[in-house]
Amino acid sequence: MNKNELSNIKNSNCIKFVNIVKKYSDLTALSNINLSINKGEIFGLVGPSGAGKSTLLRTINKLEEVDSGDIFVNNYKINDLKGKDLASYRQKVAMIFQHFALLQTQNVYKNIALPLEARHIKKSEIKERVLYLAKLVGLEEKLDSLPNTLSGGQSQRVAIARALALNPEILLCDEATSALDPNTTIQILDILKKINKELGITIVLVTHQMEVVKYICNRVAIINKGKIIETGNTEDIFLYKNKALDTLINEKPVLPNNGKNIKLIFPKKSASDSLITKMARELNIDFDIAWGKLEKFGDDVLGSLVINVLDKDFQKVLDYVSKTDVKYEVMEG
Ligand SMILES: Nc1ncnc2c1ncn2[C@@H]1O[C@H](COP(=O)(O)OP(=O)(O)O)[C@@H](O)[C@H]1O
Ligand SMILES: [Mg+2]
Repeated sequence: MNKNELSNIKNSNCIKFVNIVKKYSDLTALSNINLSINKGEIFGLVGPSGAGKSTLLRTINKLEEVDSGDIFVNNYKINDLKGKDLASYRQKVAMIFQHFALLQTQNVYKNIALPLEARHIKKSEIKERVLYLAKLVGLEEKLDSLPNTLSGGQSQRVAIARALALNPEILLCDEATSALDPNTTIQILDILKKINKELGITIVLVTHQMEVVKYICNRVAIINKGKIIETGNTEDIFLYKNKALDTLINEKPVLPNNGKNIKLIFPKKSASDSLITKMARELNIDFDIAWGKLEKFGDDVLGSLVINVLDKDFQKVLDYVSKTDVKYEVMEG
């Protein structure tokens, strides 16, 4: 397959799954999936944890092989791609993750340049491209910084810039905002919107956060237990109150039952992302963002999120948070 064939788009159909089945020994992770994603859209795959979202997403760049069924990208069947053809195909399909997968010993410039350097592109061209991408994601000032000095949002910007280095046609996002606080989530989603609009990149976005889908997706498929239970325009899906969807939407946050869960409520314009990363760094502790909720009121985004901390760190975190303008609540149970 050559490059022309890859970009030979005969109709608006970009990715098509036909009768996809994927099993992990006894477990059916994907059960007869049929789905079409159009060129140029932002498509959401949403559903609870374990539904099969990541598995389905990863079949698109062949990080997962399917057991049966066909996958077409730009009308080209990708099932049997191997070797050089697979490598050139994968250039067209970039991916970002929840945990940004940056090289910790390399600065932002080097991280973005990585895919270009691997292809022995001229230094001057690499520089031009890196500067363009850094500007696109708003990181011009950070090119010399190391990843461990960046906030979560900044780290994800680096990952996005790196993903775009080789001019992909498709960007796969696997819970790309799930480790970020609500305000930063919105900023990252705005960058994804811009990339979609200005560069025409088709985005397939996996998330368990309904708010993310509502904010950014044109169309959405709801997945549960390896099956697609609903597909449609985002608005229609949310207006048409399907019962299965209702239970998914109203699902109470499933919080870890070890350690302590603390709900943080961010006031307007509070720099919540930097608070989270600053706190982690200054207290030198690890915690997970267990749950988050975005709420948009006009142009303001308010949000709350639940962090999970170890018992031994609990008091330290409370002391820290109580010195900020963030309100908090310790979750019982
Ligand atoms: N490599 C694997 N080996 C065995 N089981 C897996 C593997 N990857 C995923 N699964 C299982 O497949 C199901 C779907 O997983 P996944 O696609 O990661 O769900 P989601 O992304 O919706 O949370 C889950 O039950 C998960 O435990
Ligand atoms: Mg997943």
